Amino acid sequence: MASLIGKVAIVTAASRGIGAAVAQRLSQDGAAVVVNYVASPEKATAVVNAIEAQGGKAIAIQANVANQADVQRLFDETEQQFGPIDIVVNVAGVSVFKPHTELTDEDFEKVFSVNAKGAMYVLQAAANRVKDGGRIVQFSTGGTMMPIAAGGVYAASKAAGERFAFALAKEIGHRQVTVNVVSPGVTDTDGLVLPEPAIAHLVSQTPLGRLGQPTDIANVVAFLVGDDAHWMTGQNLQVNGGIL
Ligand SMILES: NC(=O)c1ccc[n+]([C@@H]2O[C@H](COP(=O)([O-])OP(=O)(O)OC[C@H]3O[C@@H](n4cnc5c(N)ncnc54)[C@H](OP(=O)(O)O)[C@@H]3O)[C@@H](O)[C@H]2O)c1
Repeated sequence: MASLIGKVAIVTAASRGIGAAVAQRLSQDGAAVVVNYVASPEKATAVVNAIEAQGGKAIAIQANVANQADVQRLFDETEQQFGPIDIVVNVAGVSVFKPHTELTDEDFEKVFSVNAKGAMYVLQAAANRVKDGGRIVQFSTGGTMMPIAAGGVYAASKAAGERFAFALAKEIGHRQVTVNVVSPGVTDTDGLVLPEPAIAHLVSQTPLGRLGQPTDIANVVAFLVGDDAHWMTGQNLQVNGGIL
């Protein structure tokens, strides 16, 4: 039985990878879904078309999460098209993998603008707009718990998003809004930019013995935004085949 019928969800970075799987899963569970993207309108349209082909309701909205005006417009257009917002899943994230001694200002700016500042903007808008009883999910990475060589600046920027989410969980829990973090392990998407030997090593260290798939992660998001997770907030779920 679908539990999200009548709900409105924004999924950032839903044109590809994990975000696309989350958007499709929330639609299958009954939600009207906003498929956010930044630079790939054709990919976002393909996700919307796939949802509509299955009888779901979706629209694509371009917005850069690192731009506050874009984020406000994303939420404004969602409310205009679908009405009040129940669910926000902030999947958007970018990575840099480089040894610490080689990091530049540009590397820092790239990951912190999307993963930290973008998380601040999306979580602010979500806190202001999500209905009482709503759900907010922020994406991080297993790399904030398990240090990965050359992953320092990425993990540091993702840790910022986690901390915003945990504080927000305390600030708006009285409205019965839950705020949780999902931290994928290595997952098979365009965003998996580690060298092949590093991926093979990580898979060899994974008790469940394979690379994660976007649907593995989307299943957990579906649980978190559904009715059964109403007593969970301020948590960081490691969805990684047990690698930590
Ligand atoms: N894949 C992994 O192994 C892994 C592991 C741990 C954590 N994660 C985290 O999981 C999340 C999803 O990762 P993924 O691998 O599925 O990503 P991906 O395949 O690299 O897809 C990137 C997505 O992010 C969107 N995007 C990039 N910058 C954006 C911005 N500034 N504003 C809005 N959207 C933006 C892209 O939109 P366009 O298509 O328009 O460019 C695209 O939809 C990220 O937060 C990532 O850090 C991934």
